[in-house]
Amino acid sequence: MPDQKIPIKERYPSVTRIPNHVAIIMDGNGRWARARGLPRAAGHRAGTDNLRRVLPAATDFGVSVLTIYAFSTENWSRPLEEVRGLMTLLGEFIQRELRSLHANGVCIRHSGRLEGINPRLQAQIQEAVALTRDNKAITLNVAFNYGGRAEIVDAVQRIMRDGAPPEAVTEEMISRYLYTGDLPDPDLVVRTGGEYRLSNFLIWQAAYAEYYATPAYWPDFDEAELAKALETYSQRDRRFGKVPNN
Ligand code: IPE
Ligand code: IPE
Ligand code: MG
Repeated sequence: MPDQKIPIKERYPSVTRIPNHVAIIMDGNGRWARARGLPRAAGHRAGTDNLRRVLPAATDFGVSVLTIYAFSTENWSRPLEEVRGLMTLLGEFIQRELRSLHANGVCIRHSGRLEGINPRLQAQIQEAVALTRDNKAITLNVAFNYGGRAEIVDAVQRIMRDGAPPEAVTEEMISRYLYTGDLPDPDLVVRTGGEYRLSNFLIWQAAYAEYYATPAYWPDFDEAELAKALETYSQRDRRFGKVPNN
């Protein structure tokens, strides 16, 4: 257990730069469970519980926006029982945590299509977003029923419905019409579970994000693992196409 009395930034002095927006592909729940001889559902439960560690740590580090990839548009092709389990977990998470998230100043956002999610869960998501909309400690953006390509399709449809002439369409406009509209682009994308792919996550917004992958399964990704990702980020030279600084 890290000593909670010492401020987090003093405990990890190599973390010298804090990304404004961290986006995490929370992968490896199934393998975490399998390694313990448990059903995949137990991995998803442990993964959900893990937010209790990672969200406060990110808040303490001073991250402004934490996006978590919780359910992709592609995850509908998993067995029905697993899909149902993941839906139930989000509902339980909101029910169990909403009050304390609100008390801790967490602003909850949803990125993804509400359409397709069961109406009761839709209502829970909308309630959580509405209740916490003015909170300022950190924004927790939950990518649920999220797909980067679906998001771009939704944005283009809305732009066309709004009757924009072609020459009015700019990068800024498309960004504004995405689910993440008013949020800054991610500075750091973290993937747990050892794979090196985006899996349709924030494909527009992460165009210039730094990428960090770790073999740690999501339920094992704790404060120290987050600090490692931030340490690595601190050492990156973000050039945005310009010539190097030194
Ligand atoms: C990530 O863990 C959670 C979701 C995709 C919903 P996985 O369920 O993908 O775990 P692995 O990759 O099979 O280990
Ligand atoms: C990405 O993980 C989606 C989420 C973490 C919600 P997956 O396990 O679904 O991704 P693939 O199948 O390995 O690309
Ligand atoms: Mg996976």
